[in-house]
Order: sequence, then C-alpha cells, then structure tokens
Amino acid sequence: MEFSDTVKSFRRALAKWYSSAQRPLPWRIESSLYRTVVSEFMLQQTQIKTMLPYYERWLIRFPDFQTLAAASPETVLKYWEGLGYYSRARNFHKLAQAFVQLPQPPQTADGWKTLPGIGPYTAAAISSIAQNYPAAVVDGNVVRVLARITNETRAFKNNGEAVKAFTLTAKTALDEKNPGDHNQAMMELGATICLKKNPDCIHCPVKKFCAARQESAQHAAALPRIARTPTQKISIDRGLILKDKKILLHQIPENAVRLAGQYELPELRNLACPIPKGNPLAIKTRAITNNRFRESIYVIDSKLDFSESDKHQWIPCKDLETITLSGPHRKWLRELLPKLKAK
Ligand code: ADE
Repeated sequence: MEFSDTVKSFRRALAKWYSSAQRPLPWRIESSLYRTVVSEFMLQQTQIKTMLPYYERWLIRFPDFQTLAAASPETVLKYWEGLGYYSRARNFHKLAQAFVQLPQPPQTADGWKTLPGIGPYTAAAISSIAQNYPAAVVDGNVVRVLARITNETRAFKNNGEAVKAFTLTAKTALDEKNPGDHNQAMMELGATICLKKNPDCIHCPVKKFCAARQESAQHAAALPRIARTPTQKISIDRGLILKDKKILLHQIPENAVRLAGQYELPELRNLACPIPKGNPLAIKTRAITNNRFRESIYVIDSKLDFSESDKHQWIPCKDLETITLSGPHRKWLRELLPKLKAK
C-alpha cells in the first residue's frame, strides 16, 4: 500500500472510532467558539474530570466573551480558584478584553497566537475545533500516540523537544477536511486507549498501523522516551494564627508570577517566628510541576505580637468564604479550623 493510502486508512479508522467512542463532553454536546476557548484554557494544565465542575460554573457566571471582559480580575480569579496555574485565568481575562475589541475573531492558528495565553497547542486546538482550520494539535497525548505508531525510540530531553519532533508527523496525519474531530480523536485516543502505562492495545482502533505494537505491547508501552526532569524537594513551615475571631493571612503580591492577589497561610520565616517545639497540626504534601512540597502547619500562640503589614493581614474568620484563598489553603482551613474549635 502507498504511504498516502496508509495515512488515509489511519484517518478513517480513527474517525470511525471517535464518532462512536468519544466522551460526551459539554463543549462537544453544545459547541461554540467561546465554549471551545473556555475548555482549552482550562485543559492547558488540568485533567478533564477535574475541570468539568469549574467549566459548568464558569459558563453560568461568564456566558460569553463580553461578560468575561467586563468582569473584575477578582471575580475572574474567584471562579478559577482551585484550578491552579492562575496565570491562565489572568491571560484568559486579558484575551476576552482583547477579543471584544476585534472586528472579527482570528481566522487562523497564527492569528490566535497573537492573543494573550495562546501558544501553538491552544491556537491549533481552538482554530481547528471551533473554526475547522487545518492546524494539527500536538500535546502529550498526541506525542504518545504518534511515538508508538511510528515506533520512535529516540530519547527526548524534555516534553518540548518531543512536541517539536512530532509536529511534522502530526501535520501529515491531520485530516484537513475534518481537523477539529481529527485532533480531538487523537487526544481522545491518548486519554482513553493509548495510555501511558497500560495501553489498551486490544481495543485500539488503529492497532494495525502501530509499528511499536508490532514488536510487542510492552515495547509500545515504553514509548515515548522522554527524560524526567529532576524533582526538587521543598519544605515550608506555615502558621495558623487566630486572635479575636480573626486569622492572620499573607496576601501574595499583585506582581507575583503565581497566585497574585490570593491569600494563604503565612510562612513562619516571613513572620520571623521560630518553629514551635512539638508536632505541627498537619503536614501537607503536594506536587507542582517538578517541585515536591512538604508544608507543615503549626498553631502559633496568638499572644505573640503579629502586627499587620501590607503583606500580612488579620482577616475576620467569617470572611474566609468570600476572599480569594489559594485552592489548597482553602481546603486545609476547611479541614483544620473545625479541629481547632473542637479542642
Ligand atoms: N485535551 C484538551 N482539549 C481536549 C479536547 N478537546 N478533547 C480531548 N482532550 C482534550
């Protein structure tokens, strides 16, 4: 069979599978340009099952670009709270403000790339899914599918290098007549069948095109080869400091790269407060990109003198639900404050 015939049969097999196997996601059931943009911004660093409740809430509060553009930055952050990577929310807000000034939406992937928060992946996703523009999406899922199909055994230094290496292959594979469905089908295959650890090769609609699988399923599962970025361990000691029904919180500066304007439990080293003897009330661990955080939360004697500054403020406990707390800190406080009261 000619190469171009093989590519055509691959596209056909993928499309047939996608038409019956796709998950009924809300932006697929009811689609619009705005709904596609919301979904792609939220999915930049977040999994589908995590972002779904946020997506529904967001659409009720900000049903279109105009409403989003007119909202205050605080309101926008509040509706993003818990999704993490807050620069996405700020960029999306800026994008809406730029978008409503345009005479018409960008018509190409390159056109979308000129707007805030839009890189090559999001530009290709939005323009292909919502506007039928023939741009190929290359995300982690697509890299995995293509590495296995082509049996690419080369080792890549990082994700960026792998994405670059598969950009041309993704363009060759793209069904230019149906780019949105094709891209979503590639991502869907990576998310539901061509899984990282245990690919479900038996049910794969394109297994007969998969060169890695011809060797063995185990060989396929080991691809792509991408070096792991070394992880860094970071320990932070935080204070839970209550006085007269108020809590001392740190507000992250507005010019910070991450979490600007949000409140969090203060770090003891920033309060020049010694770490108390004895066990912390809680130890929380979490991972952000390549950093592994271990955060110890100590109850601090409120008789110590903590004066307010522009960074540290006494916030009435009754206002905790209305201020923008960083997502994990809200979760921790909801868990820990009742424990303290019970003591
Ligand atoms: N990941 C990002 N966007 C997606 C989409 N539209 N479908 C499936 N997975 C995705």
